[in-house]
Amino acid sequence: MLKTAVLLAGTVVFRVFASPAPVPGGVTSPGTAIPLARRSSLTGADGVFNQDEAKAATINTINKHLQNQVNFQKNTGGGVEIRSPVALPSDVEERLLRREERRQSEALTDESNEEWDGKISVGTPKKGTAKQNFLIDFDTGSADLWVPSSSCSSLGCLGKSKYNPSSSSTSSSKPYIFSIEYGDGSTASGPVYSDTVTVAGITATNQYFAAMTKLSSSWFTRPCDGIMGMGLLPISGLQQDPFVQNAKSEGAIAVGQFSFYLANTGSELYIGGTDTKKYTGAIEFHSINTTTGLWQPTNGQAKVGSTTVLTGLQPIIDSGTTLMYCPPALVQQIYAQVPGAKVFEADEGLWSYPCASPPKISFNWGGKDWTVSAANLNLGTTKARSKDCVSALAGLDIGGFGANVCILGDAFMRNFYSVFDLDQQAVGFAALA
Ligand SMILES: *[C@@H]1O[C@H](CO)[C@@H](O)[C@H](O)[C@H]1NC(C)=O
Repeated sequence: MLKTAVLLAGTVVFRVFASPAPVPGGVTSPGTAIPLARRSSLTGADGVFNQDEAKAATINTINKHLQNQVNFQKNTGGGVEIRSPVALPSDVEERLLRREERRQSEALTDESNEEWDGKISVGTPKKGTAKQNFLIDFDTGSADLWVPSSSCSSLGCLGKSKYNPSSSSTSSSKPYIFSIEYGDGSTASGPVYSDTVTVAGITATNQYFAAMTKLSSSWFTRPCDGIMGMGLLPISGLQQDPFVQNAKSEGAIAVGQFSFYLANTGSELYIGGTDTKKYTGAIEFHSINTTTGLWQPTNGQAKVGSTTVLTGLQPIIDSGTTLMYCPPALVQQIYAQVPGAKVFEADEGLWSYPCASPPKISFNWGGKDWTVSAANLNLGTTKARSKDCVSALAGLDIGGFGANVCILGDAFMRNFYSVFDLDQQAVGFAALA
């Protein structure tokens, strides 16, 4: 059974969405779940915040959204301010590379970078060839699918699964090159294909993606092979429907919804609806801004405790981002309400708060308060034996999005069940089961 939105009383008018349409024959087609494996955190085994990892995660988010803005401008002609990508300082990259080498050689469970990854398969194996599986970061904050190519010899492709078009009987080569710009001036790029793509038993034929022949060395530090963008067409660099949209229009799923459950165990992405085992109560849906191509429910507010500090927000709900970011001026207003809060690292907009009294930070869209738990706010102590903890809400101007745009990544999404509804152009939240 799929749940419908709840209608709440009050001054804010909520959209009430109809039940998902049943498939012909009267049976609501169930979706399927893909398990996601959680890959460590920004907190070291000693409980101390790992600044290198956080820097890499932040730069990754900045550059990803710059690419979104480039794509948006190309696709819509929309006037957004395009800034230059940011480079990871070479000493930080060096340390992360060494750490990843150590991790790979020692098969440590302590993976670098925080992300939730799951498997997909691409192509139809020709006789005598194996299925081509990839470990994927499912990213609601971008809209393109890409995997490494079998012709990639960059350091970034080392140890990754690679797509070989000649092993797939359904591969079709397209006359385009897909590219991503990095802050050090390099690009990641590769030719575009369409092929059959299967996620959790749901198959889209004719799915466009790029097979990267060149990847930045920093990709080596990421546990996943590639990215599946789950955003919307206006930010697609391939200018093609992302997977779920494609699966819906090809009839592989009846309901244009996907949902995330991110937890320490049992994490999953559910495609084609919601997994009722993973949440309780009604899903509170909010309409997104339909022009930006990102999952941005409008008219959001932020609270500290019961005090409303920010209004008129349209935050980006971004599964491919680890932390939460708001423009520095907004974050300053939030921490002004938190006794003992102080700037920890000005360049990265990181703040700390007394570990013994974590603030209750929540976001709402006129309905329930969606609160970040103390555990999910805490990135670890500022240093060994410190009484201050680094907060997962940073003050950083990601640029180009405007003064009312926060990016709410996994540190936010982990606290609730989140539903992304393509049919209704809305994001929903529900309490975790
Ligand atoms: C959608 O986002 C754009 C860009 O931030 C903004 O100009 C516009 O007012 C937003 N629309 C709504 C309905 O909030």
